[in-house]
Amino acid sequence: MNYPELQDDSYRFLVTGAAGFIGVNISLKLIELGQFVVALDDLSTGKQENIDKIAAAAGYTGRFRFIKGDIRDRAVCMEATNGVDYVLHQAALGSVPRSIADPITSTEVNLMGTVNMLTAAKEHKVKKFVYASSSSVYGDAPALPKIEGNEGTTLSPYATGKLGDELFAANYHRVYGLPTVGLRYFNIFGPMQDTESAYAAVIPIFVRELLAGRAPTINGDGETSRDFTFVDNAVQANIKAALSGDKSSGKSFNIACGRRATLNELYQKIALLLGKDITPVYATERPGDVRHSLADISLARDLMGYAPEIDFEKGLELSIQWYKDALG
Ligand SMILES: NC(=O)c1ccc[n+]([C@@H]2O[C@H](COP(=O)([O-])OP(=O)(O)OC[C@H]3O[C@@H](n4cnc5c(N)ncnc54)[C@H](O)[C@@H]3O)[C@@H](O)[C@H]2O)c1
Repeated sequence: MNYPELQDDSYRFLVTGAAGFIGVNISLKLIELGQFVVALDDLSTGKQENIDKIAAAAGYTGRFRFIKGDIRDRAVCMEATNGVDYVLHQAALGSVPRSIADPITSTEVNLMGTVNMLTAAKEHKVKKFVYASSSSVYGDAPALPKIEGNEGTTLSPYATGKLGDELFAANYHRVYGLPTVGLRYFNIFGPMQDTESAYAAVIPIFVRELLAGRAPTINGDGETSRDFTFVDNAVQANIKAALSGDKSSGKSFNIACGRRATLNELYQKIALLLGKDITPVYATERPGDVRHSLADISLARDLMGYAPEIDFEKGLELSIQWYKDALG
């Protein structure tokens, strides 16, 4: 994907959560595009090795600065946004089960942390504040595909926090004129997604267990479906959102592929790519999980020019190759 707007200019992008999975992928792409990256992360779930990768990619250009800090600290948010053109706010405590186990910390980080970032971005008059929302904001709305505007009731503190982020962002746009864009990610996967955390996502868990020769657990009957989205598509969405005009401001957009696969299908494909013949274990469904998820991506396409370039199958191949090289 080419971004003509970035060809002749170097902008300063603040990527929060840059030590995490999506943040490191965004940061590496921005460095490749000749941009300056300010990375903010408290390394609570993210990894120093991801920061080291970004620093190495920036190399002699010096177009990189890392701030180790917490988005709950308003002074840190002010320091990080100083002189920044665009904010790509990814920092959060991910995972629905984590938020059910500890709703207070999740909400302090995911909701108040975002309000702190919005406030700092408004003070420094950034050009665009792009932030990670989530498909979980659709909650119990059963209709497929999910369309912006047809949200149901949220099913977890995590989802409620993300919905709160969207309300505050729209509000900061209306009240203070801050151009904000929310990205409702649908099950993002790809290289550098953490396999070790107790709250790891389904694809890294399947890979970790299969590589170790263990039988992975599938929650429910495996017919739960998701719109699995390769991380390069999320990276593209962030850059397109930053560069999009006024028409995207104050809004939230589905970021996905517009296709769904069941956990059973996913499992079979991963097992095949890893060359493993292991029968999974089926367990009870997790509280807070929705049964099916599939996005309508036409709003992001129409208002920001978003067009996913890597589909589910190709993305899985790229991811499994990366995991084999990194862990195999
Ligand atoms: N991965 C997905 O499928 C998915 C789906 C929907 C939404 N999201 C959202 O996308 C964003 C990025 O997700 P990810 O998968 O890269 O998660 P991740 O856990 O890999 O990265 C999150 C990063 O935020 C950092 N962080 C956490 N609390 C912080 C704090 N208080 N101050 C500063 N940094 C802090 C962590 O150290 C980590 O590096 C998150 O907002 C997440 O909620 C992700």
